[in-house]
Amino acid sequence: MKGKICGTGAYVPANRMDNDQIAAFVDTNDEWIKERTGVWARHIASGSETTVSMACMAGRRALEDAGITAAEIDLLIVSTTSSNLILPCTACEVQKELGAEHATCFDLSAACTGFLLAYSTALAYLNCGVYHTALLIGSECLSNLMDWRDRGTCILFGDGAGAVVLRGTEGEMALPAAHSEGAKGDALVCKSRHDWSNLHDESGAQAMQDKEHRIGMDGQAVFRFALKRVPEVIAEVLEKNHLHKEDITFYILHQANRRIVEAVAKRLEEPIEKFPMNMQEYGNTSSASIPILLDELNRSGTLHRGDKLVMAGFGAGLTWGAAVVEW
Ligand code: UT7
Repeated sequence: MKGKICGTGAYVPANRMDNDQIAAFVDTNDEWIKERTGVWARHIASGSETTVSMACMAGRRALEDAGITAAEIDLLIVSTTSSNLILPCTACEVQKELGAEHATCFDLSAACTGFLLAYSTALAYLNCGVYHTALLIGSECLSNLMDWRDRGTCILFGDGAGAVVLRGTEGEMALPAAHSEGAKGDALVCKSRHDWSNLHDESGAQAMQDKEHRIGMDGQAVFRFALKRVPEVIAEVLEKNHLHKEDITFYILHQANRRIVEAVAKRLEEPIEKFPMNMQEYGNTSSASIPILLDELNRSGTLHRGDKLVMAGFGAGLTWGAAVVEW
């Protein structure tokens, strides 16, 4: 049994923040951000928008695109590290809103590799016949976790959600690949808002707690990690599936930084045209970036039946992985 993506959807908040708006409150400028990251703008949740509401919108659009009802979904995974809810899980809230009453629902937390791992998890379930139709969503409201005083991180990230419907069909499953290196986790951290051990500290602890509970990153370490691991895991997944890079139409990389995507293309000796990008408009939306990009390509008619794609994610953990998708 193999998995076939038969619908995509996405949702990004209407509230758009360009680089000049960020430069108004932190020491940076449009030219630096564009040149070093490729990001021109990001969309930030406002009003009643949350990780749950964005996930619902993306999920609903994916169901419409697939032409199926929510009741046909028997597996619903939401990848997120920035939900407004701890309990119940985001996937159960989406189930409730969409009416996916027959679905087994759970969240998956693996930062920017999360969607890739949700996809791999669903593939394995479909392949052994446990489930037949999965709704996979990456939804992030990173603006809630951002330290808006830290120019090393706040320029990069954005909010949004993307979703796919994955169905089991006859055929051989393409094997995914994924790895983790917890020992290097310090490079990208965000402590729980509910680290109760800190609550009784002496005066001054509150400010410390506030900072620790925002995203902190060693940008260069993450950059070097991505440059080494992403080409490696793409080569691994091609080899596992007896494919050559000539067989691949597009590489759908996590949209972290234009320079990372360009460097990966160079290392793989593949033309940059095979690496679609949209971080210029949305920034890094963590586990939502791959399905948002897939949705854009799907809706613009860029993808054709039979195209082979490689999705690759990488990020906090550290975690990284890749999967081959036949469109
Ligand atoms: O989803 C995965 C998550 N994360 C990533 O993928 C992040 C990967 N890393 C990156 O994208 C890049 O490392 C950053 C965009 C975060 C930073 O770019 P960089 O080219 O690695 O910059 P840097 O940290 O080496 O800093 C270079 C200079 C420094 O100034 P000096 O010491 O050379 O005078 C920084 O202080 O640029 C300065 N700088 C800035 N200047 C203006 C750092 N951030 C900014 C800024 N605006 N926002």
